[in-house]
Amino acid sequence: MRPITIALTKGRLAKKTLDLFERVGITADGTRVEDSRKLIFKNEDLGLQFFLAKGPDVPTYVYYGAADIGIVGRDTIMEERLKLYEVLDLGYGRCRMCVCGPESTRKYLESGDQIRVATKYPNIAKDYFLNKKHQTVEIIKLNGSIELAPIVGLAEVIVDIVETGATLRENGLGVLEEVCPLSARMVVNQVSMKMENERISEIIRLLKAELAREAAEKAAALR
Ligand code: PRP
Repeated sequence: MRPITIALTKGRLAKKTLDLFERVGITADGTRVEDSRKLIFKNEDLGLQFFLAKGPDVPTYVYYGAADIGIVGRDTIMEERLKLYEVLDLGYGRCRMCVCGPESTRKYLESGDQIRVATKYPNIAKDYFLNKKHQTVEIIKLNGSIELAPIVGLAEVIVDIVETGATLRENGLGVLEEVCPLSARMVVNQVSMKMENERISEIIRLLKAELAREAAEKAAALR
């Protein structure tokens, strides 16, 4: 049987996803080995395998069919803009895509001035400023530590992920506008969805049921 291949985003998202799969009875050899450098994990009995990739590469693997399924942040899906089916919001990895900067730069967003925007997400930033706000800006692509840009004068504002807000606070910056909420999503290759519909639908059904069960349990505990 051809294995169903699932691409996971390396790091915290992969850990949470493997935990979730384990709770529905889908496991693979070696995923629990701490500090392992292994990238691929198989379960021959279940006919599936997981592999670990960098976030921005997950949609690429799924688009080309090297993986049938991918688990990745909505930010990456929006940025990579590949044709995939987004089938499930996994509810974890929650954070927000925001325009951030020193409070003194808020006026540039209100006046619609031509400003410089530093970001790891040029497509998301372009879409937000040009299509939603109709503000002409210069986008500067960076690869990390985006919060530095307004501090050292590379850009007036940044478009970046805010989770706890600690990085902004510790660097004297704040949220100026929210672009959109984010969380981990499951994406599926369009051909796989047809060819392997039964097996992929069963995985989605199991995960959905478990997420619904957990949400109900949480709601009951709060009552
Ligand atoms: C992300 C993001 C922010 C930070 C937000 O960076 O780009 O810098 O996390 O989290 P917080 O609101 O909880 O402080 P990441 O740690 O992924 O590293 P990077 O700067 O290399 O992108």
